[in-house]
Amino acid sequence: MNPLNHVAIIMDGNGRWGLKYKNSRNAGHKAGLNTVEKIIKGSIKNKISFLTLFAFSTENWKRPKKEINYLFALLENFLVNRVEELHKQNIKLKILGSKKFSPKLNKLLNNSEKKTSKNTKLQINLALNYGSKSELIDAFKKMKKNKSSISEKNLNKNLQTKNIPDPDLLIRTGNTKRLSNFLLWQLAYSEIFFEKKLWPAFNGKDFNRIIKDYKKIKRNFGKI
Ligand code: IPE
Ligand code: IPE
Ligand code: MG
Repeated sequence: MNPLNHVAIIMDGNGRWGLKYKNSRNAGHKAGLNTVEKIIKGSIKNKISFLTLFAFSTENWKRPKKEINYLFALLENFLVNRVEELHKQNIKLKILGSKKFSPKLNKLLNNSEKKTSKNTKLQINLALNYGSKSELIDAFKKMKKNKSSISEKNLNKNLQTKNIPDPDLLIRTGNTKRLSNFLLWQLAYSEIFFEKKLWPAFNGKDFNRIIKDYKKIKRNFGKI
């Protein structure tokens, strides 16, 4: 049985779900938040230490302003209403990606990280305005500036995911098989599950089913 320490998820399919059932992409984003709650619970039940959620990519700025504004309003709401409870549950929140949002949201994000920084049960990494290519470029720039030698270890230390082990398992919902600029370096040896269900339809049972299948995989890491 494989240990499971870190699960990363590309939460895709909100828009299609919303259009199909509520005639609105934004309604799909709202429904997607319920799935986030279910998967946080499922992660605790499965004793997972790190849960990384891809919530907004550097490419998602190309979407209509109305949708972007709605997404960030949802996020603000979530932080205002849910962080206290997450904190009580000993959950740590960390943001991946560059915090270039409204001053109000930046402050909320910083405060949420600070408040929960000592928590130890589960670390949730929320990837927001995150892109793997720019993360890698930034890391190489820092290494050049610090005159550090180019090595795997030094690169790891300069990524936003420093101190976070690589994901054991990547799940992408929404019936699409691509990485969309997510954790390209860190996923080098992750087990990848592409799930047909759209994110708002995904639930704890689906999560458990994937975890069960993951645990049975023979992970080789190049060996036999
Ligand atoms: C993923 O769902 C959530 C974000 C990118 C914010 P989408 O909004 O991409 O949903 P689809 O893929 O259009 O259905
Ligand atoms: C990936 O989904 C980003 C997030 C889930 C936040 P997208 O829906 O943006 O990916 P593409 O554009 O279809 O590849
Ligand atoms: Mg999508």
